[in-house]
Amino acid sequence: MSQRKPVRKAVFPVAGLGTRFLPATKSIPKEMLPIVDKPLIQYAVEEALEAGIDTLIFVTSRKKHAISDHFDSAFELETRLAADGKTELLERINTIVPDGVSRVHVTQTEALGLGHAILCAESVVGDEPFAILLADDMIRNDGPGALSQMVQLHRESRSSVIGVEEIPDEMTTSYGVVGVDFDDSGHRAIHTIVEKPKLEDAPSRLGVVGRYILDSSVFACLGNVKPGAGGEIQLTDGIAAMLSSHPVLAYPFEGQRYDCGARQGFIKATIDYALEQPDLRDPVLEHLLQVLRESGRI
Ligand code: UTP
Repeated sequence: MSQRKPVRKAVFPVAGLGTRFLPATKSIPKEMLPIVDKPLIQYAVEEALEAGIDTLIFVTSRKKHAISDHFDSAFELETRLAADGKTELLERINTIVPDGVSRVHVTQTEALGLGHAILCAESVVGDEPFAILLADDMIRNDGPGALSQMVQLHRESRSSVIGVEEIPDEMTTSYGVVGVDFDDSGHRAIHTIVEKPKLEDAPSRLGVVGRYILDSSVFACLGNVKPGAGGEIQLTDGIAAMLSSHPVLAYPFEGQRYDCGARQGFIKATIDYALEQPDLRDPVLEHLLQVLRESGRI
């Protein structure tokens, strides 16, 4: 059992087709779309680094080099910025991945689903508990990030941990949904997990969001999963198979989540992050006010 080891590795599946953002995602992964001036994947990597992760594993599709290019050094650009004395910008691109953190890229040759993407990382993860971050779920928190909170719970409980949040009734068909019982320590122990259930079949209103800490035994379970909802190999089905032998907790993290895999969430995140930038706050607020006035909302 891998649970006693610390969580050092994080898997970032970035090989999806991103159809909801076409044509922008025709040649780049949706995880490279920027919120203000950083791509989604960089926010997720920063959250992982804050949680103590030292090995970043990207599951990419064959065609997309943008992710590895983003985290590689860019000699020409760096030389030019240094020559122009643009030290602040240079610092911003040099410190994306600090020394001592390794990056591994594995290829998912066909987009057969999130579960299949995770299975592609098996040989790199090995027999250790590991994190999964879906970068299109962006989570903003003033205190510790969502993954840090989950690492803490994993350390205390030695259980797998899945990030969840309350979802409205009409959204059960868009999420993995968990059924839970409170255990002796007051944690929510998952007894059921279903992918995209109809409202009447949903075991609760706790929807799974893109943060997981899983025992490596999930790989063996995923290996036996047949294509499920949408013809894809679902991570949810692998976790469901693991429940009988490994404790898995649902964790309602602190922080605001934006579903940046959909246009509405992406735009909300862009506005909120822009309002946090000292140089953007006033002009963006002015613009929003003008839009509200012109649309008769105020
Ligand atoms: P989504 O369900 O959001 O699918 O994937 P998608 O293909 O990226 O986007 P849409 O629905 O067509 O717009 C959730 C996560 O799983 C990854 C995606 O990159 C995203 O991070 N994924 C999905 C893979 O890496 N491989 C797959 O085969 C499917």
